[in-house]
Amino acid sequence: MAEDRIENVLHESRVLGAPPEAVARAGLSEAEYRARHALSLQDPDGFWREQAAGFTWFKPVERVLEWEEPFARWFSGGETNMAFNCLDRHLPALADTPAIVWEGEPGDTRTLTYAELHAQVGRFSNVLKGLGVKPGDRVTIYLPLIPEAAVAMLACARIGAVHSVIFGGFSAGAVADRVRDAGSKVIVTADGGYRRGGIVPLKANVDEALTALDDGLVEHVIVARRTGHSIEMQAGRDAWLDDLLAAQASSECPAESLPSSHPLFILYTSGSTGKPKGVLHGTGGYMVWTGLTARDVFTLQPGDRYWCTADVGWVTGHSYVVYGPLLNGVTSIMFEGALNYPDAERPWKIIERHRASVLYTAPTAIRGFMRSGDELPARHNLSSLRLLGSVGEPINPEAWLWYRRVIGRDELPIVDTWWQTETGGVMLTTLPGTHAMKPGSAGLPMWGVDPAIVDRDGRELGPNEGGFLVIRRPWPGLMQTIYGDDARYRAQYWSEVPGVYFSGDGARRDADGYITIVGRIDDVLNVAGHRLGTMEVESALVSHPAVAEAAVVGRPDPIKGESIIAFVVLKTGWQVTPEELREHVTHAIGAIARPDQVRISESLPKTRSGKIMRRFLRQVASGEGLSGDTSTLEDAGVIKALQDHADE
Ligand code: WT7
Repeated sequence: MAEDRIENVLHESRVLGAPPEAVARAGLSEAEYRARHALSLQDPDGFWREQAAGFTWFKPVERVLEWEEPFARWFSGGETNMAFNCLDRHLPALADTPAIVWEGEPGDTRTLTYAELHAQVGRFSNVLKGLGVKPGDRVTIYLPLIPEAAVAMLACARIGAVHSVIFGGFSAGAVADRVRDAGSKVIVTADGGYRRGGIVPLKANVDEALTALDDGLVEHVIVARRTGHSIEMQAGRDAWLDDLLAAQASSECPAESLPSSHPLFILYTSGSTGKPKGVLHGTGGYMVWTGLTARDVFTLQPGDRYWCTADVGWVTGHSYVVYGPLLNGVTSIMFEGALNYPDAERPWKIIERHRASVLYTAPTAIRGFMRSGDELPARHNLSSLRLLGSVGEPINPEAWLWYRRVIGRDELPIVDTWWQTETGGVMLTTLPGTHAMKPGSAGLPMWGVDPAIVDRDGRELGPNEGGFLVIRRPWPGLMQTIYGDDARYRAQYWSEVPGVYFSGDGARRDADGYITIVGRIDDVLNVAGHRLGTMEVESALVSHPAVAEAAVVGRPDPIKGESIIAFVVLKTGWQVTPEELREHVTHAIGAIARPDQVRISESLPKTRSGKIMRRFLRQVASGEGLSGDTSTLEDAGVIKALQDHADE
């Protein structure tokens, strides 16, 4: 087994005890990893054919990869079904094994065994079919994190409908944009969701979104009961899920045999323009990628009770709450609420109560745990844990070391997993028990992943030189396209540096091959592990009648990673408070986009050609002194005014 040498990215190195074999479950030695990774690049055809054979195909795979840059078709000729592979394939062996153990925010719990989940998905599939949903149709899912969210996703997958899950924290405006773009004819929602003791009015948001959309696009709204408060139901369009399920005689629904490249889902994510992108994933490639990465990164075995704290509204929830764990026949723990509500002991109670063996969460959550102190986790029996994971943003070495010491009792492996909505699943990490871990550094490539750190011209950089992280060939989890916009897909991911996938992240690689992610190099913020485009927030601000111009930047935040600071110029004669503008953004996008601060000013710093100089705004926002060349500034007095204003 690899010696568990911990080397901090700040070049402070120390040796900590190796994880006990039973804990690390090291499947591979470091040399075996190297050989297997090399094989995956040298013989991708043989390697992926063998991996695909671990899943059920109704028609055998003919060609492993058809690559017409930038479009990949994986496992063509093959026909399969994601829901079948997540459920039917495990029956009857795992019939009584919990597939989902769910805990609601108020503390209610539900357990669905593989047999029960299979039956519920079958019945839900029949409901969708009964409403006329056909393979390829889009279904929007806008739910709290309740089991119905997973059931609805799997039901879509079963009948070949394409799900588009929208995080329950998004507002009516964001729902309208996404429903319009996807062209969904059915929306699955709930009366409401719980959030920190309050109720999120999901159905009311859908109603508001639908009044903004063209008549007739959305034919059916299916409403799950969750909060029980009163809502309006529009006759002919809206129906209670309970009633639809009760009217369905059968829970038997054959899984549709779908071509490997049949679209599985659309998931919207932020880019550097104002309009979110509908990342489209296919069936076979994504299935093999999430199944394999979940198995190898988390060393999953049947009987594991695995907890990923993400919401299904994000890709982490798709790949590692629903699909990855179910493909591996493990129990996925789902938690509806916020990790620090009603108190900061909530996560430790959940781990203790449900005997979780894996905890997969985000650095922002870990920093939150750190802040509430070492005593809270110490009050609980966390001995069921054997592996810890981190995802969503760079983890600072202090948080990594705290996680390992306090939650990992100084012995558990930590997997810091770098990936993106677009990559489908984990791309870089250290395999537990196989690799030495370096706090703050994501690590080494997964099977078939060929990363490089390059400069603007695509020249590969040397050890420890900072550059752009690119991936030099397609892998099975690669997105298929941006829904309805092949040109944008090509332009954003395959053109910045010709011939390679452009991640949008800055990174460096050390002499051992470990890759450390520095952060986004585009105008994308990472706020509490959530990706947000500065342009998106700016468009929301300028949609307010009082706003003439807006510029949004990130300011480093000790818990959230980044916080949102907006600089706004008002139209002459208008008056509005910063609070009103913050509220306006919340209404337009959702609370996750609410600026921490709105600074109203006379003008914004611009170059002589009229481009807003965000670099200076970032410096003003973080209270740093100005550095860099100010000679291109149109009016240096603007910056002075902003700084003076900031000090008020
Ligand atoms: C962006 C992708 C991956 C699922 C959740 C976020 C950042 C993600 C890490 C990590 C450093 C990370 C990157 C990436 N990121 N994981 N382990 N270390 N940065 O998915 O919303 O598509 O965001 O999150 O900047 O580009 P996403």
